[in-house]
Amino acid sequence: MSSILQQQCEALAGARYPLHMPGHKRRVPPAPGLGCYAFDLTEIEGADDLHDASGILAEAMGRTAALYGSARCWYLVGGSTVGLLAGIRAAAPFGSEVIVARNCHKAVYHAVELGRLTAHYLTPPVVPDFGVYGSVPPAAVTAALDAHPAARCVILTSPTYEGVQSDLKAIADLCHARGVPLLVDEAHGAHYLPLAEPYGWRGGAVAAGADLVVQSAHKTLPSLTQTAWLHLNGTLIDPAAVERQLDVFETSSPSYPLLVSLDGCTGWLAAEGPAAFAAWRKRLDRFAAAARQWRHTPVLGLGPERRDFYGYDDGKILLRIGGAGAAALRAAGFEPEMVCGPNVLAMSSPCDAGDALDRLADFLTRRDETAPPPPRAGALLPAPGTARCTIAQALDRPAALCPMEDAAGKTAAEYVWAYPPGVPLLAPGEEVTPAFLEAAETLAADGTALHHTGAGNAQNLAVLA
Ligand SMILES: Cc1ncc(COP(=O)(O)O)c(C=O)c1O
Repeated sequence: MSSILQQQCEALAGARYPLHMPGHKRRVPPAPGLGCYAFDLTEIEGADDLHDASGILAEAMGRTAALYGSARCWYLVGGSTVGLLAGIRAAAPFGSEVIVARNCHKAVYHAVELGRLTAHYLTPPVVPDFGVYGSVPPAAVTAALDAHPAARCVILTSPTYEGVQSDLKAIADLCHARGVPLLVDEAHGAHYLPLAEPYGWRGGAVAAGADLVVQSAHKTLPSLTQTAWLHLNGTLIDPAAVERQLDVFETSSPSYPLLVSLDGCTGWLAAEGPAAFAAWRKRLDRFAAAARQWRHTPVLGLGPERRDFYGYDDGKILLRIGGAGAAALRAAGFEPEMVCGPNVLAMSSPCDAGDALDRLADFLTRRDETAPPPPRAGALLPAPGTARCTIAQALDRPAALCPMEDAAGKTAAEYVWAYPPGVPLLAPGEEVTPAFLEAAETLAADGTALHHTGAGNAQNLAVLA
């Protein structure tokens, strides 16, 4: 008998075509259903121990490392989040300095907070048409390393939630020339592996030689939600330190169905990957050919802004069609991954139905004929204010609520982000700028709710007292 929650989830799952995670799109095995009760184990004789693997789990993780070309791979059952917490804690001693791209996910900020780290931010340029972050220029990484020689690691996100890639090979090389490890949040790039390269998915973090690479298998591949991989390369990071931190941050009762799903995904990639990636490429090429004809439906990566990127994952379809466009998509039977300000994200994957993107393109072609001009991006990404103290210091100090309109110049005592994508617009310890207040107002006017992690809300901000 199915539970109430299962019935509700199945109803939602059946309502519209999923242009969102998980990557299996509820279509492709080996995603097990509730039949997974049959192999839900614990660390009994023969079942190995994820936190001290030497048996069947070590063998499975070895199969994934071999497929990706990494020296080590750890299976994660707490998403990329746990890989980022453990990886950053392993790379940067408590209280040390790190160089962090400002467009990282909240999990990176939480690692900075827990490690009481001082983050020196790299702020990538913003793509004005869409208000999303572009690539991190290698020269900016060099400048940051020059300015902060004590930094213990560099942390970047590539590809971003919206699909923008940075030149990881150049960045890894220049970090390594100084003996500084590079940690890449590739949560959205688990499909960047050697066998996908011939089909256009090139420039992945493992191939670039990044020292630690975190990938959410569940986001773009056929693996269950919460499953992720942490890859290790090179000699700058001690694997024992990573294992120790995984012990700290990850459950001591990892789910065997999730672990089985990761090995199943690895097996699926090896057996079906080349054909699936070739078919995905064809679907995306047909979609791009249709999209290039549209006049009122800008798609990130297909317009003139393309030259600002080092690289782009066109499996992510970012449409500037606003909330009204998202409502029209839903009415046409498609559920998008994200609606944020004017942007609507449709996620494709190697597991989509053969005609899913054709149907999406047909719908958008018809809509484009009568659609109003696309909404403008506005001030979505404010340049961050100066960090007046570390995140951890700010969170330790007394805070008070301040009306938004009086908050400029004060010091933030909480994070503020839109979720998704979960990149903080404001972090504790940062100066509150008029640009932040304007962005918050613009997003609210577009109907995008902002999440405050402290006592703040749409009217008030938590600031240092
Ligand atoms: C860029 C980025 N990094 C990390 C994460 C965290 O991944 P997970 O949900 O697998 O923990 C996300 C989640 O959406 C993300 O967008």
